[in-house]
Amino acid sequence: MNEVIEIIGSALWFILPAYFANATPVVLGGGPPLDGGKKFIDGRRIFGDGKTVRGFVAGIVAGTAIGVLQGIAKGPLSHYLSLGFLLALGALLGDLMGSFVKRRLGIERGGALPGLDQLGFVVIALLLASPVEVPSWQVIVAIFLITPALHLATNFIGYKLGLKSRP
Ligand code: CTP
Ligand code: MG
Repeated sequence: MNEVIEIIGSALWFILPAYFANATPVVLGGGPPLDGGKKFIDGRRIFGDGKTVRGFVAGIVAGTAIGVLQGIAKGPLSHYLSLGFLLALGALLGDLMGSFVKRRLGIERGGALPGLDQLGFVVIALLLASPVEVPSWQVIVAIFLITPALHLATNFIGYKLGLKSRP
């Protein structure tokens, strides 16, 4: 039991920059879309209006800032700074890839693709962070179990607060 709690704690601690990177655009995003409004060869938007330059930058800054705070709290700072930046970048690139895939499948902005929506960002975040640190397999399993639940819960809260148009 104690070990399970420890693993969950390690999982949340490790993936925290990716969570912040993923959540910040919901609050601070908006403005010009990353794809400049351009369409892909299939006639649909490359990413869509839900992926903005401001959201992307804000997400990277927020996730990296969490890494810095972790570095100050635990150290070494350089380790957590790299980890924070790579997890944040990975989370946003993963999210972007998810939107790209959804548009290719004909799913409009805001439409759901269960699985990819909840886990895509975390997979790419872990991949980009892997040169700096690979967590134990137990921690990785915990991240994959916790993230969809947390994602659905925060989406619902965001919807209730009027930050998101769909739950
Ligand atoms: N957001 C942003 N920039 C990003 C990512 C997200 O501005 N790079 C903002 C947008 O306002 C977006 C909201 O955060 O609507 C929620 O993000 P998400 O659910 O990923 O976007 P969706 O609107 O659902 O669009 P998509 O179908 O492409 O996922
Ligand atoms: Mg969405």
